[in-house]
Amino acid sequence: MTTAVTTEITDGIAVVTVDNPPVNALGYDVRQGLADAVAQTDGDDSVRAVVLIAAGRTFMAGAEIKEFGKPMQDPGLPDVVLSIESARKPWVAAIHGTALGGGLEVALGCHYRIVDARAKLGLPEVHLGLIPGAGGTVRLPRVVPVARAAEMVATGRPIRAQDAVQIGLADRKSDGDLRVDAIAFAGDIAGDPLPEALVNRAPVDAPDEEKWREIAGKLVSKARGQNSVLRAVDAIGEAVQLDGTAALAVERQIFTELMQDPQSAALRHVFFAERSVGKLPELRGVDPRPLSQVGVIGGGTMGAGIAVALLLSGLHVIMIERDEDALAAGQGRVADTLMASVKRGLISPDKRDTLLKGFIGSTGYDALAQADLVIEAVFEDMDVKKQVFAALDAATRPDAVLATNTSYLDVNEIAASVADPSRVLGLHFFSPAHVMKLLEIVRPDQVADDVLATGFALGRQLGKIAVPAGVCDGFIGNRILSAYRRECDYMVEDGATPQEVDSAMKAYGFPMGIFAMQDMAGLDIGWAARKRRAPTRDPKERYVSIADRLCELGRFGQKTGAGWFNYPEGSRRGEPDPLVENIIAEEAAKNGIEQRDFTAEEIMDRILGAMVSEGRAILEEGIAASPEAIDVVMINGYGFPRWRGGPMFAAKVAEQGNG
Ligand code: NAI
Repeated sequence: MTTAVTTEITDGIAVVTVDNPPVNALGYDVRQGLADAVAQTDGDDSVRAVVLIAAGRTFMAGAEIKEFGKPMQDPGLPDVVLSIESARKPWVAAIHGTALGGGLEVALGCHYRIVDARAKLGLPEVHLGLIPGAGGTVRLPRVVPVARAAEMVATGRPIRAQDAVQIGLADRKSDGDLRVDAIAFAGDIAGDPLPEALVNRAPVDAPDEEKWREIAGKLVSKARGQNSVLRAVDAIGEAVQLDGTAALAVERQIFTELMQDPQSAALRHVFFAERSVGKLPELRGVDPRPLSQVGVIGGGTMGAGIAVALLLSGLHVIMIERDEDALAAGQGRVADTLMASVKRGLISPDKRDTLLKGFIGSTGYDALAQADLVIEAVFEDMDVKKQVFAALDAATRPDAVLATNTSYLDVNEIAASVADPSRVLGLHFFSPAHVMKLLEIVRPDQVADDVLATGFALGRQLGKIAVPAGVCDGFIGNRILSAYRRECDYMVEDGATPQEVDSAMKAYGFPMGIFAMQDMAGLDIGWAARKRRAPTRDPKERYVSIADRLCELGRFGQKTGAGWFNYPEGSRRGEPDPLVENIIAEEAAKNGIEQRDFTAEEIMDRILGAMVSEGRAILEEGIAASPEAIDVVMINGYGFPRWRGGPMFAAKVAEQGNG
């Protein structure tokens, strides 16, 4: 018997407890312990039913990361699940926390499932380039409708306890003490005939061919080249067609195939990179400053989004705007965004009302007297920012942390406008700020360790992936964006059309191309940045004026109905515009360029080349601490396809392939 799994028998109910901190991963000890527990309880005549429960904060949350990529020592997980499923006593899984991946597969091997009201259940293997490998794709459609099973496996998104009950994945929900409720449940079913093993059952429903094509088509259209999503849909398709045992063999075959897929290696790289980038050795043991009240200066696109993110994380927010009208507009944006979340079922109307009670607005800085942290998100203009920071210096407590959300400006210069620059840092959010996971934490020269630690603590509280970045024009992400945007401008002036560049990027796996993205974000921001840099630009460096000419015509993108593309009547799908083509041709002629054709391959080579060479420069200058940091930023902030591992990873793989 291993110590990770213990069995305690009371009144005929065996409680099998898995205890493998921190997340009860399914390492060897747990697998062996479960196999032993089946043998023990099967062989004990006094046992009428078994409850499988986990100690600590969660049910089994998946594979043992330490064993990742190595051959699995026997007993393998598929065998453990089969042995539970074929046990002679009924097994009840009692699930709290998160039952993910292998954890949910073990629960599917059990004959019944009871879930704590706050539990989440999911099969997130696609995110690591895999599919479930211990029967998940086979058993799930035998307990929930096939469309729901396909969705869970192909998106990897976990579901909540109440949904699990509703679709039949769980038999009961516990609103009180899970262990007590699970033992009572086990007592209730102990005398019933043992239910048929899931693997021997027919699928819950059998969508006809047309319906299945519709379900599969919807999921596949979101894959953008990610093999694991495509193969997850295939696996469910097979699981529904074949009998359970044959389907298990197909699942195993697809799982083994995906294990060897370079996409899985890339996704694993990102998984580990995302968990390590925000861990700074120099901050170990440094306590962050406590946060309760947070000020937000500016209620525009970013300020409102940041306010929503803060409110959703449980903080009180004070929004400051320059006048009553702007304040009303900013508060309206926050209320609208929360309303949209209610409509999408993400929060309840009551929750929205509670959050709004923690949200106040003001046109005076006095309201910030007790703020623990203030995030500035006013216009991207150094003079305006300096005035705001001077006002903050006067109005806030001397220990309040002051942050700027600037996209490009020098955070050292902003910090110098307050008496104690050690309390200033950059918190660079991405739009929409309550949705986007990335947060660049910009470290000016004089920032205090505990101020930096407060930035990371806030990032955690908001559920963001926080990446440290040094001070420079554009930090990590926007600096790389400027570099490849420039490369795209060169190619367009040389003869590639904006739509060709965008299609090449989409074919590579980006959700949208650079030109459509600029149209969405607004061309005016980049224009302002270029004008600001103009005096220091090297006159010998090639400069493409096409975007400036579009801006001079008031073409700022979607918000003005036209940018690189046209957006007739508020449409979000851009159409090529002959006027833009003329401007491009004129600029090329003016600069004596003979335009030529570009292949999609050449376009992507040039874009990736520009990203990687800027990435290397950023590493040399110490702006990013590691290539992983760059990959995480480009994936989470700029749509770089996750399954390619990020630009630095992709470059390394390509070099290894060539060498
Ligand atoms: P915006 O123009 O939508 O909002 C700026 C807001 O600041 C306006 O509501 C304005 O009334 C207010 N404001 C201006 N001066 C003020 C003052 N002295 N006191 C109080 N409020 C004042 O701009 P947006 O897009 O929200 O950008 C804000 C900042 O965030 C900029 O520094 C920008 O570079 C940065 N940023 C923008 C991103 C984006 O995608 N839009 C992404 C990340 C950062």
